Amino acid sequence: MDQLIKRLRDEQTLPEEDLRILLSAEDDASLEALCLQARQVREQYYGLKVYIRGLIELTNICKNDCYYCGIRRSNRDVVRYRLSHEQVLECCAHGYGLGFRTFVLQGGEDPYWTSDRLVTLIQEIRQSYSDCAITLSIGEWKRVDYERFYAAGANRFLLRHETFDPEHYAVLHPREMSAEHRQHCLRQLKEIGFQTGTGIMVGSPEQTIDHLIRDIRFIEELKPQMIGLGPFLPHKQTPFAGKPAGSLQLTLRLLAILRLMHPEALIPSTTALATLHPEGRLRGILAGCNVVMPNLSPLEQRKKYELYNDKAALGAEAAEGLSLLADQLASIGYELSYERGDSLR
Ligand code: 5AD
Repeated sequence: MDQLIKRLRDEQTLPEEDLRILLSAEDDASLEALCLQARQVREQYYGLKVYIRGLIELTNICKNDCYYCGIRRSNRDVVRYRLSHEQVLECCAHGYGLGFRTFVLQGGEDPYWTSDRLVTLIQEIRQSYSDCAITLSIGEWKRVDYERFYAAGANRFLLRHETFDPEHYAVLHPREMSAEHRQHCLRQLKEIGFQTGTGIMVGSPEQTIDHLIRDIRFIEELKPQMIGLGPFLPHKQTPFAGKPAGSLQLTLRLLAILRLMHPEALIPSTTALATLHPEGRLRGILAGCNVVMPNLSPLEQRKKYELYNDKAALGAEAAEGLSLLADQLASIGYELSYERGDSLR
């Protein structure tokens, strides 16, 4: 096993059978060995810095009906909201004051947020915060729209491919959505010049090791600047209510493997990981993650943006909890960074 991990580190890739061995192992020793190597590589490239991104949840209104997601169209029990332009700008001002230099605008695919409205909003933020990165996480659009967002001043875009395999994608999404289209959007985002992030949920229903290997290969081919992955967490008002959550061990294993394959990538320790386990966020950092995304949304909306139940949004998950987060990171030898933290690749 140690030889395999060393080869992964040296060659930044492995043949399928070896990936299968690493992903199927369930022993603590091999997970520890993977995490140790992943930390060394991350330190070589990014030192001990952990970058912060202020997450602004624009809207929980969504035209899509993804089977796993708590804010899916069919969930009648969600109290829907959308932030006004003014509220978004207030979040940015608040976040800037706290020291954030990246704003992540995330939201459902809400018909109110047309391309025109988004362009205006992006331009406003760009004008007021010339030293900040603007990250969008707003789903699938036409190429012309992505181009307009980029021209308006957005720098980065997050769009998880969720799962590469078309059949598995169809297990997680209704017919009107497709793996191919998602991947097509990602290629366009990269071509346009966005620092692009993709990723998956670990342990989503019917996911196999073979699916994960295909996800790893897709990520190798796309070469995204950012890689986001967290465990699947069931939400009570979705068709996947009774499904088991993804495992902490497997999520950490994958994070460490992806760090070894992509030394220059920005990899967040996700809110889903922090929600799954009290030590999830720190374990993510110890598996090679170098980003955290505290919540900057207005407090009264925060609990309504519930992609999965009991989503962590307070304490070190909250923008107001930065000093707590800094203390936690310091306790494991890492240092919260207020830099903009662009990708090295
Ligand atoms: N569990 C874990 N992650 C989820 N996401 C959506 N719903 C869930 C869930 N139930 C993730 C998806 C999406 C991101 C914004 O949140 O991967 O891309």
